[in-house]
Amino acid sequence: RTVAEPLDRKQLRSSAVQRFIDDMVETMRDYDGVGLAAPQVHEAVRIVVYEVAVERPSRGTKVPLTVLVNPVLTPLTGERVEDWEGCLSVPDLRGKVPRYTSVRIDAQDRDGEPVSYPAAGFHARVVQHECDHLDGKVYLDRMTDLSTLTFLPEFLRFAG
Ligand code: NI
Repeated sequence: RTVAEPLDRKQLRSSAVQRFIDDMVETMRDYDGVGLAAPQVHEAVRIVVYEVAVERPSRGTKVPLTVLVNPVLTPLTGERVEDWEGCLSVPDLRGKVPRYTSVRIDAQDRDGEPVSYPAAGFHARVVQHECDHLDGKVYLDRMTDLSTLTFLPEFLRFAG
């Protein structure tokens, strides 16, 4: 629940932080997650990683492995849609969360170089979910209707 601290270029380029980023990617893949934020592995710094490696109807198109440092999101629309989310930090639950359908991402990459690009659909959802972790928020905080909150076995029973 802590608000994570930004990283400057020198900290980011240290071998300790570079190794930490590699560990985050490994952890995300080990748990079959599509994203991971540093606070989820107990480091209160503003780093998120994400990757949509497998195309599924619920996940839309693939998104390559991405590392964002000090990300800032700006909604590109007022439109929000609800869809299911889960989280490694709140295991075995699913719930419907409203998210902006498109956002602009301004951040640095793992080398400290600035990046800026738009994201839409599931990509935009993943980025909003992960960046919330940097401010100590989980998707439950964003749910407007808790009646959709479901244990995973129940979700899988009805989702299939
Ligand atoms: Ni999460």
